[in-house]
Amino acid sequence: MPRNPSSNSGHTRADSLYIPATCRIEAVSELTPQEKLFRVSLPDGRPLGHRPGQFVQVSLLGWGEAPISVASSPTREGYFELGVRQAGTLTSAMHRLEPGDTLGIRGPFGNPFDLERMSGRDLLLISGGCGLAPLRSLIQYCEDRPEQFGRVCILYGAKSPADILFKEEIRTWEASASFACATTVDNLPGGACYEGQVGQVTRLIPPLEIDAPRTLAAIVGPPVMYRPVIDELKQKGLTEAQIAISLERHMRCGVGKCGHCTIEHLYCCSDGPVFWLSEVSGLRGAL
Ligand SMILES: Cc1cc2nc3c(=O)[nH]c(=O)nc-3n(C[C@H](O)[C@H](O)[C@H](O)COP(=O)(O)OP(=O)(O)OC[C@H]3O[C@@H](n4cnc5c(N)ncnc54)[C@H](O)[C@@H]3O)c2cc1C
Ligand code: FES
Repeated sequence: MPRNPSSNSGHTRADSLYIPATCRIEAVSELTPQEKLFRVSLPDGRPLGHRPGQFVQVSLLGWGEAPISVASSPTREGYFELGVRQAGTLTSAMHRLEPGDTLGIRGPFGNPFDLERMSGRDLLLISGGCGLAPLRSLIQYCEDRPEQFGRVCILYGAKSPADILFKEEIRTWEASASFACATTVDNLPGGACYEGQVGQVTRLIPPLEIDAPRTLAAIVGPPVMYRPVIDELKQKGLTEAQIAISLERHMRCGVGKCGHCTIEHLYCCSDGPVFWLSEVSGLRGAL
């Protein structure tokens, strides 16, 4: 049985897990040429009821449905945000939408970051590429509840300066007393205007001073990033039980019923997408 068969959905008994709510797009902004941020509101302005790390199933009639992580914190009330990369059928149709258009939303679904366990701890929040969108929900949560956490360090790696998401917000994190924040890019194309670090995100970890027993890490990024980042964190003394990772699988139902998203005996949609590394590191194909 999945750990959370639709348990985090926030649905009442009168709702169906399978019937999307019609939600209004309040604003659309371009993050990069491939990624857009959608600010969305539920009917009657009711809260989504999500926790950082959860996702919603987004649908457009005639174009399909896909899981998209919630990119904003539940502490930001009256709306939620989705950072969407133009990847295929549905997301390309989404990129043509404008404020005032509507989206179908089911959820929120999935196992979130363990905020209870994270309380009072130092946090190391590491993301690559599009992974900053899901992690932003947790970063904003830390920003709004700084008294709840110890030192919070944000590390982010993008392919090139043009691929950096949430550029303005990163500047506020860099300036914030609540955070230590470092960004790097893999490549610096000729002529690019960029003064930050160059190299993969893993290079940001060795210089850190980490109180390992007090620290929990969270990683969200492309699959290729996980192993090298995990190796660096282990070098710093973190165990697999101190490292949370968010995994992606192709999904259909999103609620632990159809079996599309299995990782051996686990369902990525309801046991995950956020797992402690110790839960999945021994499973075939998990990483
Ligand atoms: C928990 C979770 C959270 C996510 N969060 C985000 C997010 O915040 N932002 C974001 O942009 N994306 C996110 N994604 C990824 C997003 O759901 C996918 O990119 C989704 O496929 C996009 O739908 P689409 O119809 O636009 O693309 P599709 O038409 O589905 O195509 C996307 C790509 O997947 C391939 N593909 C499609 N179906 C299959 C299949 N069955 N087997 C193998 N390959 C296949 C296609 O060839 C194409 O390369 C998330 C995924 C998960 C599981
Ligand atoms: S998508 Fe996970 S069981 Fe259906």
